Amino acid sequence: MKNGINGLVRIPRHVAIIMDGNGRWAKSRGLERIEGHAEGARAVRDAVETASRNGIQYLTLYAFSVANWARPRAEVEALMGLLVEFAQKERAELRQQGIRVNVIGTLEDLPTATRHAVEDLIRYTAEGDRMTLTLALSYGGRQDIVEAARSLAVRAKAGLVLPEEIDETFFHRHMTTHELPQVDLLIRTGGETRVSDFLLFESAYAELLFLPIMWPEFRPETLLAAIEAYGGKERRFGMISEQVQGLLPIQAFDPLDRIQS
Ligand code: FPP
Repeated sequence: MKNGINGLVRIPRHVAIIMDGNGRWAKSRGLERIEGHAEGARAVRDAVETASRNGIQYLTLYAFSVANWARPRAEVEALMGLLVEFAQKERAELRQQGIRVNVIGTLEDLPTATRHAVEDLIRYTAEGDRMTLTLALSYGGRQDIVEAARSLAVRAKAGLVLPEEIDETFFHRHMTTHELPQVDLLIRTGGETRVSDFLLFESAYAELLFLPIMWPEFRPETLLAAIEAYGGKERRFGMISEQVQGLLPIQAFDPLDRIQS
């Protein structure tokens, strides 16, 4: 299993990761938090390569949340610097592997040098068709939902959108995640069991996997084991087992009181 996944395993189409634990990893070794982030960036490289080699089509990484702006300035600057380094050092390899880079969140919030490096990475990898690597930058799940609602309200007020047109698909088109399918597997390292404002709308039916290891300890084998565990789950999307197995039909939406009347 070290080098790849058995061909029979069901592969999640979209894997999202909350990369937590860089600071604790560093502290436990007597290092600065920033060194934990640098080691975390190395784990990012391995995770991206392993995901693309094993048929994952979408990998989304929580690189910087809207809440992370509140961290000490030196740490924020170091993270912004690591993003520039990642964009510059990895772009050739990403393009060569057919990996397209995408961003969710508010890229305009980032310092100019980081924004330009990420924009360049997006342009440089735009033709990649093997995997979409999405970096969540200055991202907040609630903010993304609220901004979509606000933009739809403005359009509705201007008569450009009819309220009855707004369903889940239509709403999603107005979010920064509009290019992404729903999340199949959401992994969080660092031992906490919360989703911390990550992909709230898109993870409605995601399998959740909380790992006790710190992000810099995440190895290719960790991802392969997570994919294998996912492959063994039955995803029912609110239905019953026999329906998802195709043994019983799926009913059209029909509330019970209407069935009885
Ligand atoms: C959470 O760990 C991690 C972050 C806020 C930043 C994640 C950034 C990286 C993995 C490196 C740069 C990213 C890319 C894409 C090159 P934490 O600092 O909250 O850890 P702690 O809970 O132990 O303090």
